[in-house]
Amino acid sequence: MEEVIEKDNKSIPNWKTASTTLQRANKPVKVADITFKEEHRLLTPDNEFNRVLGGGIVAGSLVLIGGEPGIGKSTLMLQLALNMPGIKVLYVSGEESEHQIKMRAERLVAPQPPPSGGGAIGHGCFILTETSTQNIFKQIEELEPDLVVIDSIQTLHSAHIESTPGSVSQVRECTAELLRFAKESSTPVFLIGHITKDGMIAGPKILEHMVDTVLQFEGDRHHVYRILRTVKNRFGSSSELGIYEMLGEGLREVSNPSEILLSQRDEPLSGITISTTLEGMRPMMIETQALVSPSPYGTPQRTATGFDTKRMSMLLAVLEKRCGFNLGAKDVFLNITGGIRVEDPAIDLGLAAAIISSHQDIPIPFKTCFAGEIGLSGEIRAVNRVEQRIAEAQKLGFEQIFISKYNLPSGSHDKKGIDLSRYKIDIKIVSRIEEVFEILFG
Ligand code: TYD
Ligand code: MG
Repeated sequence: MEEVIEKDNKSIPNWKTASTTLQRANKPVKVADITFKEEHRLLTPDNEFNRVLGGGIVAGSLVLIGGEPGIGKSTLMLQLALNMPGIKVLYVSGEESEHQIKMRAERLVAPQPPPSGGGAIGHGCFILTETSTQNIFKQIEELEPDLVVIDSIQTLHSAHIESTPGSVSQVRECTAELLRFAKESSTPVFLIGHITKDGMIAGPKILEHMVDTVLQFEGDRHHVYRILRTVKNRFGSSSELGIYEMLGEGLREVSNPSEILLSQRDEPLSGITISTTLEGMRPMMIETQALVSPSPYGTPQRTATGFDTKRMSMLLAVLEKRCGFNLGAKDVFLNITGGIRVEDPAIDLGLAAAIISSHQDIPIPFKTCFAGEIGLSGEIRAVNRVEQRIAEAQKLGFEQIFISKYNLPSGSHDKKGIDLSRYKIDIKIVSRIEEVFEILFG
């Protein structure tokens, strides 16, 4: 357990010491009497970012951006700070020198044309290299920024407690001070936080309950794609997703993810299928690949990239038990292309088809895609918002899609059902995994 020594609080000014005296005791109010105003939201020039936040930055919100070191958090936030039109942004860095930040800024700004009517890029962006919260607040009072970015919360320290920067109590105290500042001044504050692979150690995990919104920046460092995922959001859906491409001159929004996540091929190859996935409100088509080969060393290898390994084992067990494929002595590799990670169970069916396609060495026909969850008994289960998935597949020129029978009005718990006649794409209705293989490989 870490020992925390509280310093004499009275002698050190906190974020506006006066504010504590302003606190009134609240009285209970009837829900019906509470007047509701749509929060004021600040739109950034980055549409992916706006969407992930639930439609722009909410005044006074505290947002945590977590991610592994080197994934691009500083790049994302500096780029945003440089491009916010007409407002003052304070970018506080405890990690890099002014010189380093300037160099990065040059790289980010150079290739972009100035926004129409907005003046020069980076005009309202101020850099402060500082790690003491008391000093930061002093500068904030002078500058009065409209938006504050802290890079990173682990580098800050508060004079209120004696503990090293990055320790749990420091991180928590600094966040609490910034939270008070954000709420009292209605200034949105973004905190960058490093997460290690296991996600825990004094990491931003401990802050998740304190902040309004948690965004996670992730991706495979060897790929160009980066994903900004909403993990928690008091002001919008918590399952939104933004996609970026990391280029030499910063991050670029990817507005049509389906097209980039599907590779261009001239002929169908075995082991490759296309699945529909839904991230937040947005349907995407992704390529799922499997490689099944005899295991040379006795102990078969099972590796999945972008997909949960436990779920992969479950799929393999179902394929063995229900369909009689002998996969026990095989190495199985699964991969979701583009370096993205998918949790949507609707890709089960596509993955199972990819595994069998590779195992049998029979390609899946072009322009075929899948949307179905697989249950332990081999049944194909319904997926959410199947209509959006079908529409996306059709829009991208797919000719057939496999969906679950349980997504139809009859036999489904969901009474709304879907109207198949609305679609041009051939919709194959299946209820068991064996049926799918019969159609594909029979
Ligand atoms: P960075 O934002 O420093 O990551 P974090 O703050 O999450 O630790 O990003 C680091 C990586 O991004 C680094 O490997 C270089 C790369 N990068 C680009 O590819 N293009 C760019 O324009 C910039 C600024 C960085
Ligand atoms: Mg950084």
